[in-house]
Amino acid sequence: MAHGAITITITTDRLVLELCPGADSLFWPAYVSIRADASWQRQVWHQTYPREDPREVCEKNLRLVERRGYGLWAISKGCSEAGRGKMTRQAAEWIGWIGYRNLDDMAPRPCKEHPPPNTLEVYIGLAREHWGHGYGTEALRGLVDDAFGKNRIGTRLTACILQDNPASERCFASAGFVKTTEDLRYEDEGAYWVLHREGWKRE
Ligand SMILES: CC(C)(COP(=O)(O)OP(=O)(O)OC[C@H]1O[C@@H](n2cnc3c(N)ncnc32)[C@H](O)[C@@H]1OP(=O)(O)O)[C@@H](O)C(=O)NCCC(=O)NCCS
Repeated sequence: MAHGAITITITTDRLVLELCPGADSLFWPAYVSIRADASWQRQVWHQTYPREDPREVCEKNLRLVERRGYGLWAISKGCSEAGRGKMTRQAAEWIGWIGYRNLDDMAPRPCKEHPPPNTLEVYIGLAREHWGHGYGTEALRGLVDDAFGKNRIGTRLTACILQDNPASERCFASAGFVKTTEDLRYEDEGAYWVLHREGWKRE
C-alpha cells in the first residue's frame, strides 16, 4: 500500500510481500482469477463462491489497511511493482497473497459465533502452479517476523486449517504455530492454530 511515496514491503530470500497494492495494480485481477477457479475453491474452502470484482476487492482491502495498518499482502517473485527490495528490477509475477485481519472488522460475519475480541487471523493463498516450492512457508515466516518484529500486532496470531490440508499444517507449524484446543468459535470446521509472541521469539 502506498502512503504518499512509501510502499510497505516485506522482502524474503525469493519473495516480496507488498501491503495492499493500489487499484491500478495488476495484482487484483490475478488475485480474483486465482480464487475464481472452482477446483481451487473446493479444495481450499470445500465450497464455491461467485467471481469477485477486482476493484471492489481492492477498495475493501484498502479500507481495512487504512483502519489497522495491516491486512492483505500481495506476494510476488522478484521485486514489487515499486521496484523496492533486494531483487533485481523485473515485472512482478504475482503468485498469491497472505495477510492477517482483525475479526472484529469482519462483523457481521457468516461465522458460527464471534471469536474473542481482537482475534487476528492469518490467511494465505497461492496459485496452484506455485504450490510445493516452499513459497508458503517462506511468505508466512516473513509475515510473522514483520508482525512481531515490527510490533505491528499485539500478542498472538491465529489460523483455522481444514483437516485435509497437510501442506497448510506443515507451513504453519514451520512458522511456529501450534494446534490449540481453545475453541475460537469463528469457523464451522477445521482446527485452530495459534502463534504467541513468546513462541515466535523461541523460533
Ligand atoms: C497452503 C499453502 C499456502 C502452502 O504453501 P506451499 O508453498 O504450497 O507449501 P510449502 O512448499 O512451503 O510446503 C510446506 C510443507 O508442506 C509439505 N507439503 C506440501 N504439499 C503437501 C501435500 N500435498 N501433502 C503433505 N505435505 C505437503 C511440504 O513438503 C512442506 O513440508 P516441510 O516443511 O516438512 O518441508 C499452499 O499450498 C496454498 O496456497 N494452498 C491453497 C490455499 C490454502 O489452503 N490456504 C491455507 C488455508 S488455512
